[in-house]
Amino acid sequence: MANIETFGQETRIFPAPAEFSKTAAISGMDAYRALVAEAEQDYEGFWGRLARENLQWHKPFTKVLDESNAPFYKWFDDGKLNVSYNCLDVHLQNGNADKVAVIFETDSGDVSKITYRELHKKVCQFANGLKSLGIKKGDRVVIYMPMSVEGVVAMQACARIGATHSVVFGGFSAKSLQERIIDAGAVAVLTADEQARGGKRLPLKSIVDEALALGGCDSIKNVVVYQRTGGAINFVAGRDLWLHELVAAQAETCEPEWVDAEHPLFILYTSGSTGTPKGVQHSSGGYLLWAALTMKWVFDIKPDDVYWCTADIGWITGHTYIAYGPTAVGATQIIFEGVPTFPNAGRFWDMIQKHKATIFYTAPTAIRSLIKAADADKNIHPSQYDLSSLRLLGTVGEPINPEAWMWYHKHIGGERCPIVDTFWQTETGGHMISPLPGATPLVPGSCTLPLPGIQAVIVDEAGHELPDGHGGILVVKRPWPSMIRAIWNNPERFKSAYFPPEFGGKLYLAGDGAIRNKDTGYFTITGRIDDVLNVSGHRMGTMEIESALVAHPMVAEAAVVGKPDDTTGEAICAFVVLKRSRPTGDEAKQIAKELRDWVAKEIGPIAKPREIRFGDNLPKTRSGKIMRRLLRVLAKGEEITQDVSTLENPAILEQLKEAQ
Ligand code: PRX
Repeated sequence: MANIETFGQETRIFPAPAEFSKTAAISGMDAYRALVAEAEQDYEGFWGRLARENLQWHKPFTKVLDESNAPFYKWFDDGKLNVSYNCLDVHLQNGNADKVAVIFETDSGDVSKITYRELHKKVCQFANGLKSLGIKKGDRVVIYMPMSVEGVVAMQACARIGATHSVVFGGFSAKSLQERIIDAGAVAVLTADEQARGGKRLPLKSIVDEALALGGCDSIKNVVVYQRTGGAINFVAGRDLWLHELVAAQAETCEPEWVDAEHPLFILYTSGSTGTPKGVQHSSGGYLLWAALTMKWVFDIKPDDVYWCTADIGWITGHTYIAYGPTAVGATQIIFEGVPTFPNAGRFWDMIQKHKATIFYTAPTAIRSLIKAADADKNIHPSQYDLSSLRLLGTVGEPINPEAWMWYHKHIGGERCPIVDTFWQTETGGHMISPLPGATPLVPGSCTLPLPGIQAVIVDEAGHELPDGHGGILVVKRPWPSMIRAIWNNPERFKSAYFPPEFGGKLYLAGDGAIRNKDTGYFTITGRIDDVLNVSGHRMGTMEIESALVAHPMVAEAAVVGKPDDTTGEAICAFVVLKRSRPTGDEAKQIAKELRDWVAKEIGPIAKPREIRFGDNLPKTRSGKIMRRLLRVLAKGEEITQDVSTLENPAILEQLKEAQ
């Protein structure tokens, strides 16, 4: 992994391939600069033009941006539209009804295809089914479904009737699901009997049952179950229904509910540095505009492309770049149910070959683990597959180290495909800083330049802009259409988390550090500046994991930090003080296992600490504050060279040095 000293020092440059630029949506840096200038000269005019050109409005907007109640910005506020109409009906009207919308491949390798006409029908029937349950505009619906056509249909069906969905990743525990259901005040849960992943069947419906049994979910009237595996499940009469029975008799068309541009399309929970996960609320109009536009600008999507984003619909990437972006632009996309390592770690390359994928978008963690697998087994090395259909690659979710970038470029991209390293967040709705494949010269490990209209800069602690070459805090100076609108149920937290008063309440604080190269102005993200971890591209708050640990009856105190990891980016390292004496040897191992399983049950397996170390205490200042920076050094296995004079109990450091 690149360390802070080498950030922004990479000198290899890969110009945009001439062939690519010829047909690119934004061709050459002059075209990029012209758009940047247009946005600078007339910000509202720029966004208004794009919103008119890229979306179909049921009622046109007359005002582009309303800043009167900043930072609660409103975009295209008096315009009306429907997201599902823009993603489906428009393609039926423009001659693309029989175009393949989704190539779906199951975990075990079965392939099915569905056209825009069929997708439209499924969405309408699902939407009518939801309406028949009394679900209406403004209601919240939780979706806890596997990667499937039905998952996307469920999201679009909610959008069609104006219900606000909240997708919960299928790997989250019953408790996490319950907390989200309660916070959102959801009226229904859409789920499946089980999910099939890596040759295994994993429960979903029984976890929903467990979540609802935990209590407090009285708002839930119905649970709709998609039959995926046919595994046995419990049914609660009057509450639970099969999806196929619900939709069987429904009409094949459904008049879309025309909503205001600001109507909340979805809430997606994500981790912050403090407290419980935040319900990030997104709009309909501004969000969809950016989803569609970045598909064109960053992915350069063309009618013949076979696009594949490997994310899960439980994360923002699966929302913007599976459920909404590709459909908004009428693309053909691959949706994959399984995991990259089943039946072997050549699965991605096999699928690219089989479906002739042209655009491939994945996470650096996946690339790093597949590099290892390819080195270990030549039979699944990408050189064994025909990947010549590819024309563009992308990465998302975490910094990509230059070595992994070079491997991706050479072995997957055949040294011909540009790589778009897209920096963005759940809160930003879509890409923020990213190369444009037909314009931007690429530098491995750098997400390069802000997209046109995105005014990203680097500031110091006081909010003053820093000159290039100085590392600092990444902020965005002006609102943009797809930005977070609110934290569900918590306007105060929205303001303090994203528009802190120290920055005058006007700058959007991304939560990441960044540095800009002195010569190119290129951005390199240096990582989170708060207590948020990024493990395999999954975002987690240290506090959430600490709260889960201290909820265990044996635990008195816990502190969680990230530790650099070659494959997962960061790994979770927990320092734990038990109520009883400090365990050692086999006993420590056994308790560590119990605590790991406990965290999996409290939050989900992705939050399991990689390492647990036990101490009689934690390193604290005299005022009782845990010194996390020291724990970070210990987790890395490095010697402590910092000043420890404020530490109350220096002897504890020795004890915490070694993992059990
Ligand atoms: O730290 C940044 C990192 O992921 C965080 C956002 O996580 P999440 O909301 O889960 O969204 C992930 C998918 C968009 C950011 O604050 N991050 C995301 N993309 C990159 C990145 N770090 C470096 N380079 C990226 N391309």
